[in-house]
Amino acid sequence: MRIALVGGGLMGAGWAAAFLAHGHRVVVTDTDPKAEPALRARLERAWPLLREVGDLATEADPDPDLLAFAPDIASAVTGADFVQESGPEDLGLKRSLFAEIDKAAPEGAVIASSSSGIPISEIQRGQARPERMVIGHPLNPPHLMPLVEVVGGEQTAEAAVTAAIQVYRSVGKRPLRLDRETPGHIVNRLQSALTREAVAIVLEGVGDARAVDDALTWGPGLRSALVGPLLNMHLAGGERGIEGFLAAFGTLTGDLPAGDPMARLIAGVHAEAAGRSIAEIEDERDRWVIRCRRLLAEFGR
Ligand SMILES: NC(=O)c1ccc[n+]([C@@H]2O[C@H](COP(=O)([O-])OP(=O)(O)OC[C@H]3O[C@@H](n4cnc5c(N)ncnc54)[C@H](O)[C@@H]3O)[C@@H](O)[C@H]2O)c1
Repeated sequence: MRIALVGGGLMGAGWAAAFLAHGHRVVVTDTDPKAEPALRARLERAWPLLREVGDLATEADPDPDLLAFAPDIASAVTGADFVQESGPEDLGLKRSLFAEIDKAAPEGAVIASSSSGIPISEIQRGQARPERMVIGHPLNPPHLMPLVEVVGGEQTAEAAVTAAIQVYRSVGKRPLRLDRETPGHIVNRLQSALTREAVAIVLEGVGDARAVDDALTWGPGLRSALVGPLLNMHLAGGERGIEGFLAAFGTLTGDLPAGDPMARLIAGVHAEAAGRSIAEIEDERDRWVIRCRRLLAEFGR
């Protein structure tokens, strides 16, 4: 595949690493002349890490000839099969970058934005070919984080969303499809709730920065990579699981009518448990927490 990357900063470099590691040709364009040496330096640091984590299957580093820099968007995206935009987080700028990309990219190419929070509906409005525009939101550090949030907007074709998912999966990412768009997607909604409270706790004098960070490190952070907040509610609810938890906190007060959003939440947690008993999930969580505690000790914490 030939991949065009518009914006070669922190996220652009992460995308370059993923695509090059899987043998694809990558063309980057960036208005800052310092972007090229910085991106190349980031790649050099990424290769041993990608090899260690199993995302780079070859003994040799990827062929340097697979990477090229183009002076402008038109020459970068000409002939591209897939375009990933990672310019600054600014709606006006993204709209103009997408218009330029749209004009020069081949008809079949999907155009994805790395935007952390702008809905793709805002970016695609008024564009010539909005149906091929999607969000493909990576996470920092982009060379190591598998998750990519994928979502289309009001005018996105289903085929563009599924094609983007396939592309990300093919380079070792873990694409996560959102059922509908929302500012901040899933990750930044979760993160902003946590960040907002972390700052508020310090400003209110409840604890200092160390207390807030320790609260996560020695508490929920220890389990949360394996057991997310909703599966954790299932474990916290005793024998009745998620229903027990919601009843205890007063949000579940009887039978729910069909189609109720809370019923969807409960069904989703049971689907995630996938037939495992509370005890089985607890056992797995416990083994996980023990490993994480050993890792913290290894890191001198
Ligand atoms: N930093 C993060 O943690 C993070 C995480 C996920 C998503 N994102 C998103 O990814 C995008 C890029 O973020 P970043 O952290 O890589 O920023 P960055 O500042 O490191 O990179 C942006 C790059 O875009 C370049 N650029 C500016 N105008 C341009 C133009 N007209 N044409 C081509 N290139 C241009 C800049 O020179 C810069 O190198 C943003 O939308 C951001 O929200 C960032």
